[in-house]
Amino acid sequence: MRAVSTSTGDAPTRGRVLVVDDQRNMRATTAMLLRAEGYTVHEAGGGEEALATLASQPVDVLLTDLKMEPMDGLTLLRKGLETVSQLQVIVMTAYGSIETAVEAMRLGAYDYVTKPFKDGELVHRVQKAFERSKLVSAVNLFAGEFNSRHGLSALVGRSPAMHELTNRIIRVAQSDATVLVQGESGTGKELVARAVHAQSRRNKQPFVPVNCAAISETLLESELFGHARGAFTGAVKARRGLFEEADGGTLFIDEVTETSPAFQSKLLRVLQDGEVRRVGENSAIKVDVRTVAATNRDIEQEVAEKRFRQDLFYRLNVVTLRVPPLRERLEDVPLLAEHFLERANARSIRKKRLSQSAVDHLMTYSFPGNVRELENLVEQAAALAEADELLPEDFPLRPKRLADSNGTTRVPTTTPQPSLAQVVDEAERRAIQSAVERHPEDLAMVAEELGISSTTLWRKMRRLGIRTPASS
Ligand SMILES: Nc1ncnc2c1ncn2[C@@H]1O[C@H](COP(=O)(O)OP(=O)(O)OP(=O)(O)O)[C@@H](O)[C@H]1O
Ligand SMILES: [Mg+2]
Repeated sequence: MRAVSTSTGDAPTRGRVLVVDDQRNMRATTAMLLRAEGYTVHEAGGGEEALATLASQPVDVLLTDLKMEPMDGLTLLRKGLETVSQLQVIVMTAYGSIETAVEAMRLGAYDYVTKPFKDGELVHRVQKAFERSKLVSAVNLFAGEFNSRHGLSALVGRSPAMHELTNRIIRVAQSDATVLVQGESGTGKELVARAVHAQSRRNKQPFVPVNCAAISETLLESELFGHARGAFTGAVKARRGLFEEADGGTLFIDEVTETSPAFQSKLLRVLQDGEVRRVGENSAIKVDVRTVAATNRDIEQEVAEKRFRQDLFYRLNVVTLRVPPLRERLEDVPLLAEHFLERANARSIRKKRLSQSAVDHLMTYSFPGNVRELENLVEQAAALAEADELLPEDFPLRPKRLADSNGTTRVPTTTPQPSLAQVVDEAERRAIQSAVERHPEDLAMVAEELGISSTTLWRKMRRLGIRTPASS
């Protein structure tokens, strides 16, 4: 950092921040914290006073509370940006008012912090806002729809990782960029894709999901691209594909890595040209679709191992949204558990509640099945528990090997235990691979040896990414 000495010999000035809060204590503490970091800090007890400061003093970052009288934070935000267009605004919001924070971001706020915040978190965000103010002379986040459906509020969690993810979603949603959502199974990738759509200008148009692993490849092709009448046996009528259905909106291509290179090159062409050709049809149809793809595999490894086309990877990966596994944000567990319990309670006459010991118990777990596993655990407990207060024994967790020698468990931080599905996958992969090596030219023989049908074999091979010497 540049060493600028001030007349008082204090730490160098890093930027000018205006702190606005009608609660004097809160304001003073925040200001003190930022001064200690070397910022020049102005304070204002309300919107009018803040606007007066903005009109008379240079300010890089405005940090404002949202709930204030008579001028609220959103109004201050709007008027502040009218006064100083390159101002970076961070709003302070109480937990549970994510809608207001989102609204603030739409109005042009740079970021938000949820109260109560940790000192380090606030300092970090102010620092980032200041860096941005140096980079950008005028940021215009006004564009776009204001009345979105706030798909973000479906995403529960206030860990720093989720906060970061929410911010990225809001930003990405402003553009039409193709998005690749990566994360382990059950982390919430589909919710993220929906939130991107809900926050985007396309939110009045359809969100169309398609799961590549759920249907055979030929079917997938005609599902996505549509087909002409008579294109294949059974195609008695022409049919629009999902790309056409999603016109104007968002197409969510789930488990995109579960497709063959041949299919991938067809998909790539559609994404490049912005037009689809129905199967058995020569003419192309223009489509205006934002694509969000998802995978729970390490896609870069899939590319390295030539199971996923690199050119398609680059095409899809314009923006990556990484959804962190639940074990890396265990602080979200209590909120998520409450959220799922509330949902279960809403469907039942008997209302259950979580005991602290149950929450503590859950927080020692590594959740190989991520949020979906927690959701299932809570639903089961709510349905089966005898008493109204849910106890640790109502949440039977899968055994973990991360127990200390004295038998007490600790919060797992490193290697997650493989889920049963992963273990089974691995065993299947090995069995199939060795059978394929024995009969490289004869898949029927492989199927017979393994005691499964050829269709099942084919499906498993595709899912597990096993190729025959002939197909590679
Ligand atoms: N942050 C969250 N807040 C609330 N619910 C969540 C959150 N994340 C996930 N869920 C819930 O957990 C379940 C799994 O989420 P989702 O289907 O989006 O996961 P996924 O990553 O797509 O999983 P898969 O890879 O297995 O398809 C869903 O019921 C979803 O509603
Ligand atoms: Mg999914």
